[in-house]
Amino acid sequence: MPEAEVAASGATTGSDPLWWRQSLVYQIYPRSFADANGDGIGDLRGVTSRIPYLTQLGVDAVWLSPFYPSALADGGYDVDDYRDVDPRIGTLRDFEQMVAALHAVGIRILIDIVPNHSSDRHAWFREALAGAPGSPARARYIFRDGRGADGSLPPDDLTSLFGGSAWERITEPHGTPGQWYFHFFAKEQPDFNWDNPEVHEDFLRTLRFWSDRGVDGFRVDVAHGLKKDMDAVERGGWTTDPEEVFAREGHPLWDRDDVHDVYAEWRRVFDEYDPPRMAVAETWVPLHRMTRYAAPEGLGQAFNFDLLKADFDAVQFRRIIDSSLDFATASGASTTWVLSNHDVVRHATRYGLPKGASRTGRGTDGVDWLFSGGDPAEVDAAAGLRRARAATLLMLALPGSAYIYQGEELGLQEVGQLPDAVRQDPIFHRNAGVEVGRDGCRVPLPWEPEGPSFGFGADGSHLPQPAWFRDYAVSTQDTDPASTLNFYRRALALRHDLQGAETLAWRASGSPDVLHFERPNGWQVVANFGTAPVPLPPGDVLVASSPLDGGVLPGETSVWLRS
Ligand code: NOJ
Repeated sequence: MPEAEVAASGATTGSDPLWWRQSLVYQIYPRSFADANGDGIGDLRGVTSRIPYLTQLGVDAVWLSPFYPSALADGGYDVDDYRDVDPRIGTLRDFEQMVAALHAVGIRILIDIVPNHSSDRHAWFREALAGAPGSPARARYIFRDGRGADGSLPPDDLTSLFGGSAWERITEPHGTPGQWYFHFFAKEQPDFNWDNPEVHEDFLRTLRFWSDRGVDGFRVDVAHGLKKDMDAVERGGWTTDPEEVFAREGHPLWDRDDVHDVYAEWRRVFDEYDPPRMAVAETWVPLHRMTRYAAPEGLGQAFNFDLLKADFDAVQFRRIIDSSLDFATASGASTTWVLSNHDVVRHATRYGLPKGASRTGRGTDGVDWLFSGGDPAEVDAAAGLRRARAATLLMLALPGSAYIYQGEELGLQEVGQLPDAVRQDPIFHRNAGVEVGRDGCRVPLPWEPEGPSFGFGADGSHLPQPAWFRDYAVSTQDTDPASTLNFYRRALALRHDLQGAETLAWRASGSPDVLHFERPNGWQVVANFGTAPVPLPPGDVLVASSPLDGGVLPGETSVWLRS
């Protein structure tokens, strides 16, 4: 069978329609994972070459962040063409071969879909610039006339979530300053007009395009942002200040009820396939609003970032676990668990910041994903890693799917000190001096302790790796039984074998700093968030996040037991 057909048939991944409910998904940020052609940028052949690594790690699926043609104004979330591969990353043929090779070893693949905005190099946006005000080409985006006699003021004061105005003025085809277009994110990311049926049709085509190529599911970027009532913003006195967007419900540009009409259409496309394609919504909305995104007639699953935003704290973790499991019951979906991704400071670093340090650069809970990471000089890396391993072991035992981010299995720390000249993130460029942006978690992985890019590729990497990356190299950790990599491997293998019904029963722990619960199959989890050791309950130790000391569970340590 040709490789593409193997990919499309999902031959070795089976036909269970609910495969995703408790899966372990590994996020690959393709430009920073593995560089097969040695140009300093990770690529699809690099991913394929590292499939043995993914198999040994024990992942059920990979989620590939955008790999589409892009000027990289926002790390690939500025898409030029939704149905192609960036030539620097590979070809469609490479994509098909990668999918076939993943499926051949039983690993499924999710890809990122970016429906809120395209890039300003997308063919439709170029047509919009060449068209006239009011033309059908402009109606695919959100264009408005400016204020003031000569239209030189933006239509309103809305701000971009990346800083600065949310409006950018264009030059009309005849050379004069013209209309303005709306962009929730960078100016290179014009927002689509989701009131336009053409936009709907085009995304349905894209979903089929990739589903036909064997993709098992989609991670939907800014899933809550698509539908907008621009006029209501003016009428209701709303702003797009991140605090308001994230914290005030009923915003006319954010998390509107009519966005679910879009996902009902998408669901019909997903269900054309066997097994149905799955989707997970990126939704920065309160849990009770997340239910409809995760409903079976909608996208089917939603990212729950509550744990990622929490401190290393037993009370917070307990509250979040309970509310997340309630959410799972209400939505009918399994919940998701995330501690790190490409938008936030790595959790091994986050947990090493002094208590009370600003983790956001803005100081509001709602915009935690714009982390600045605090002052790198203040990070206690050893404590951060110890807590990260403890939190991870707890997370991996929870009912639902766990999403892990490339490099966390190495215990990798955030790269806090990058020269300004190499920073790529628009958050840095739009807020210089205030936000450092998200490049620190996107530095290419160290595969080897030596070499010009620590085995990432032949020659250099698109973001510089610090010398200390050598201490985290895959090949060194591979042979060290105490390494974080082998800790993850052990935990993932056990998780795979132990996984049963999506239930959890709390046990009395005897301490407010200790969480103790039991899953089916006698699988017990004890997490000590405090610093003092506590007695270890009876049972066979399966894996511990730090070395155990006789019959006690040391501080900041988790353990899995079997009774
Ligand atoms: C969420 C993505 O995860 C982030 O990386 C991106 O900058 C924004 N959406 C805009 O697409």
